[in-house]
Amino acid sequence: MENLHIDLSKALSFFPANAIDELRQPIAEAHQALEQGTCKGNDFIGWLHWPTSLTPEFLHDIEQTAHNLRALCDVIVVAGIGGSYLGAKAVVDALSNSFGWLQTENGQPVILFAGNNISEDYLFELQSFLRTKRFGIINISKSGTTTETALAFRLLRSQCEAQRGLDEARRVIVAVTDAKKGAARTMATKEGYKSYVIPDNIGGRFSVLTAVGLLPIACAGFNIVKLVEGAAAMERLCATAPFDSNPAEQYAAVRNLLYRNGKKIELLANYQPKLHSIAEWWKQLYGESEGKDGLGLFPASVDLTTDLHSMGQYIQEGERTLFETVVSIGKPAHEVYFPTDEENLDGLNFLAGKHVDEVNKMAELGTRIAHIDGGVPNLLISLPELTEYYVGQLLYFFELGCGLSGGVLGVNPFNQPGVEAYKKNMFALLGKPGYEAETAAIRQRLGL
Ligand code: PA5
Repeated sequence: MENLHIDLSKALSFFPANAIDELRQPIAEAHQALEQGTCKGNDFIGWLHWPTSLTPEFLHDIEQTAHNLRALCDVIVVAGIGGSYLGAKAVVDALSNSFGWLQTENGQPVILFAGNNISEDYLFELQSFLRTKRFGIINISKSGTTTETALAFRLLRSQCEAQRGLDEARRVIVAVTDAKKGAARTMATKEGYKSYVIPDNIGGRFSVLTAVGLLPIACAGFNIVKLVEGAAAMERLCATAPFDSNPAEQYAAVRNLLYRNGKKIELLANYQPKLHSIAEWWKQLYGESEGKDGLGLFPASVDLTTDLHSMGQYIQEGERTLFETVVSIGKPAHEVYFPTDEENLDGLNFLAGKHVDEVNKMAELGTRIAHIDGGVPNLLISLPELTEYYVGQLLYFFELGCGLSGGVLGVNPFNQPGVEAYKKNMFALLGKPGYEAETAAIRQRLGL
């Protein structure tokens, strides 16, 4: 099997020639600190050797639960937010037929996501849609108390019970949560739901290869054994490969060098719409891990060539604080050829007979060259194909790259203290018991 490959050549001219050599040692030290558990946030590095530690029995159990849910449900709603849904959505979207979600009659359950916003209209429309469906719920929350997820679960659980009866509802609700604490665990125990544990030492944004991601991915009909095999292959490669053949170490080094040399924004770019949600997952992974202590690259993303017609101008000629990381897929799964047209009014007959992907690849190459010429350094991450195996490689590559990059940056990549600020204000404004002092302070500040 081939491996994910990273090409740094189009970024090297954007920092001093010896800089990359100077970073080899700090990267090696960051890697060693992860391996030895001496890094900042070392109680959250359970993801590091997770793929190779997964047993066939565990994967089989997940597959069996997915099989049961698939048999009993036309729609499976995944309730979760942040790390409790982005990984599953990333993989499901990357591997799914783009229009599969429109086809509810093909024996495949549709996977929907909820519990990731507080929109009244979203919830109303979701509940209306589900009214005529045999639906199940995967309730994913490590803390078990996250407002967005708890709200959706309250609504959906009672709807599921009303539509299916208590006994059947209990068979189509699965909890993925902490081993012992939190409302989701208490509820799962009380109601007898099938449940899975989110390990204590794996934070939400690093949890895609636990039941958090694997169960929804299996419910969508994808091969989680291959996904884990890909991740495990990347884990093995990156654990031992020297810097010059270690994609995660190289990525972590170069993005830190670009940051030190004035590039403050990393744009993750793809040329396949199916990768859109991979970028959403990646944004959380890097943004939440590195954006602290007044530091960190801002992770942004573009879908190309789509966004060349909206963001292309800025990328080409706007403020020169960007660099671009392209995720490129070698071979499409299907064949479509550029058609010929007798009248040739658009002048495009010179493309007739070519694979659409050949045109896409030339757009990709042409854009990379244009962006480099415009002062935007370019990293290229290539996957041979968009399959479970290579998506697994990509997930682990980005996780390790993040752990290393945050280590070199000097932050604790495994906490997210800043996320609490909005919750505190929201609860104070809503008058949550126990928040009386905060409520008074915020009301005074707002002149209420
Ligand atoms: O990465 C993280 O830890 C967060 O994004 C969490 O996953 C997110 O806040 C959801 O938390 P919980 O799973 O406790 O509901």
